[in-house]
Amino acid sequence: MTAVAARPRNSDSVNLVEGEFPFTQADFDQVAKMLYSDAGIHLQESKVALVYSRLAKRLRLLKLSNFAAYCAFVSSPEGKDERGAMLAALTTNVTRFFREPHHFDLLRDQVLTPLATAAKAGQRVRLWSAGCSTGQEPYSMAMTLLSVIPNAAQLDVRILASDIDPNVVATARAGAYNDEAVSPVPASLRDKYMKRDRANGGWVANDELKSLIAFRQLNLIGDWPMKGRFDAIFCRNVVIYFDDATQDRIWARFRAAMAPHARLYVGHSERVTDLGFDSDGLTAYRLKKGGAA
Ligand SMILES: C[S@@+](CC[C@H](N)C(=O)[O-])C[C@H]1O[C@@H](n2cnc3c(N)ncnc32)[C@H](O)[C@@H]1O
Repeated sequence: MTAVAARPRNSDSVNLVEGEFPFTQADFDQVAKMLYSDAGIHLQESKVALVYSRLAKRLRLLKLSNFAAYCAFVSSPEGKDERGAMLAALTTNVTRFFREPHHFDLLRDQVLTPLATAAKAGQRVRLWSAGCSTGQEPYSMAMTLLSVIPNAAQLDVRILASDIDPNVVATARAGAYNDEAVSPVPASLRDKYMKRDRANGGWVANDELKSLIAFRQLNLIGDWPMKGRFDAIFCRNVVIYFDDATQDRIWARFRAAMAPHARLYVGHSERVTDLGFDSDGLTAYRLKKGGAA
């Protein structure tokens, strides 16, 4: 366990953590500034020990002797890849199949069932898992989709699954999970939409499930190349790491990206404060009728 050293205020040279590498307030501030400008993530001061322990591994790997050198490296053009590795080391990717299961019932009842007839007649339907991590969320959405619209793969029905971290996007695209990760998936859905992974053990999403999902690297605080509107957006356990101003900008952008009947689902400890939304179930939102107040 890394001890956090007591530090006098206004001191940039004092070591914040008693450990192998010097880690000062100036180092922490610089890391926090980079994380905020790259990903919108607000790094709280209480995370000093966590930042130290996660990045100390990177310093060891790069054979650097202090955080000042690390910060200089990730700020330079040569350190571009390491900058991505730093972001990946500091973000949390915890996720599960059918996490917060009520959202998948709401997706079925509020969005997919009302759209099923039009979708079968060729209408475009788009769902988005924004901050999809290793893919359990979009695959759970796809299984829900197929349970309502069994021939969705032959229709104009698709799911966008995006995350800022290209490594988790690659894992999501591969769709391979161990037995423990797959345990929340009901056996009937698992046997229908996943295959035994003979090479690695565990399970892998079948081709039909994969064909419904487009996996993309996308930064929520950057440009969004998507043109059409979404019928449902899952953005769960992502904005909790953003400050209020960044959250407000995201809500307004989701609002503009949603079809009139669409729903937005957020994580259990997140709340949409934008006046253009009405609550419509537990951490579920729809656009306010007649626009924002
Ligand atoms: C805790 S996971 C949530 C996964 C899934 N939505 C769920 O609720 O199970 C948070 C994800 O948000 C991603 N993330 C953080 N900042 C982001 C940003 N600015 N743009 C896109 N994704 C971001 C992280 O890489 C991480 O995979």
